[in-house]
Amino acid sequence: MSNTVLIGLQWGDEGKGKIIDVLTEKAEIVVRFQGGDNAGHTVEVGSDKFVLHLIPSGILHQGTLCVIGNGVVLNPHSLIKEMNGLKAKGIDCTGRLQISSRAHLLFQYHCLLDGLSESKLGEGKIGTTKRGIGPAYMDKVGRSGVRAVELCHPETLEKYFRLNSAKCNEILKAHGQPEMDVDAEWLKLREAAAELAPYVADTALGINRAIRENKRILFEGAQGTWLDVDFGTYPFVTSSNTTSGGACIGSGVAPSRIQKVVGVAKAYSTRVGSGPFPTELECAIGERLRKIGREFGATTGRPRRCGWFDAVATRYAVMLNGADALAITKMDVLDDFDTLNICTAYEIDGRRVTDMPSDPAEFARAKPVYEEMPGWKADTSRTSSWADLPPKAQAYLARLAELIESKIEIISVGPNRSQTFFVD
Ligand code: IMP
Repeated sequence: MSNTVLIGLQWGDEGKGKIIDVLTEKAEIVVRFQGGDNAGHTVEVGSDKFVLHLIPSGILHQGTLCVIGNGVVLNPHSLIKEMNGLKAKGIDCTGRLQISSRAHLLFQYHCLLDGLSESKLGEGKIGTTKRGIGPAYMDKVGRSGVRAVELCHPETLEKYFRLNSAKCNEILKAHGQPEMDVDAEWLKLREAAAELAPYVADTALGINRAIRENKRILFEGAQGTWLDVDFGTYPFVTSSNTTSGGACIGSGVAPSRIQKVVGVAKAYSTRVGSGPFPTELECAIGERLRKIGREFGATTGRPRRCGWFDAVATRYAVMLNGADALAITKMDVLDDFDTLNICTAYEIDGRRVTDMPSDPAEFARAKPVYEEMPGWKADTSRTSSWADLPPKAQAYLARLAELIESKIEIISVGPNRSQTFFVD
């Protein structure tokens, strides 16, 4: 495997954690490059289930180095909780995890401001995970953020933490909200900083050295293309670049060092939070997809909105990411449907459109035009090769790949690590 970026082609929750886990077998270093603990990557290994939010899924493979890149916004308490959870299951992060000194820290005040902003938006709320992601990135680009290097400098950390906390409390007070107990939060943060300081490093230098030594790097995206702050369904997006280009900026690795982009898509579509979703099924079929696919958020537990596969949006996503290989997940969820629909065009204000409009208001008015395919009505969860798949399942996958103009390399037919296979 060459240096590979793996990203989601839809609205997140495509099953990236599982595919990363499978590809990690061929990688020496796995790098998270954007987002924060809003992500929830679920990996099932045998009877064990792991839900990772900040730590790259590569941690489940002995000997892989995992890097939290500079593009991530890092909540120190969430990270420690996750490290402890892994330790309880026999996985020690010591010597296997590095935090970029340039990653921005995410504090309790970011979470409080996220909650406040959502409550003020009322009906128009974004439906964030309330993990403080937007406010943390606002501080980063507003040049008032605090970076992970300060975990090694408690005095500076305290100075900036108190300064920003005081500003946050002024805002909370102005909105009649309870203020944050800065002293109590600082004591918790001081402890967390001492615990995490040994993991802080110049990871851009480390990754580039590893590339020079021909080590293989896997870049792990979080969320999905349509939540990208530039290309997603703005403003119903997250605050980072979830598309493949984000891997370079979020890790300090040049585009010339990346050889491959793998796009992950579910065999149908889901979305959490607000925003347009043309193929959404607000009916019994949507309920059925949610139930069979266990479509509830790994981070917030919220029910996911479910719908048919949108080949128009996904083709655009393949283009934006340069996804030359596809991983299609959750095929087994469709096992029992008589017929399946694929959206091949939109009807917008009486016009037929085959490219996703860049105007979110137009996208919100898009009505899906469907192509119907027969269901395969057979259990795919025990299949382990393309040849094992029922011919109608093969036809469905082949049609998806043709419509979105990429090539299927990996198929996932269930939550377990073992239920994944490569297509030759
Ligand atoms: P935020 O990232 O918490 O600010 O949330 C912004 C939008 O992104 C909301 O619609 C969230 O539901 C969505 N979102 C954030 N992280 C994820 C994820 O990991 N999977 C799916 N949706 C996500």
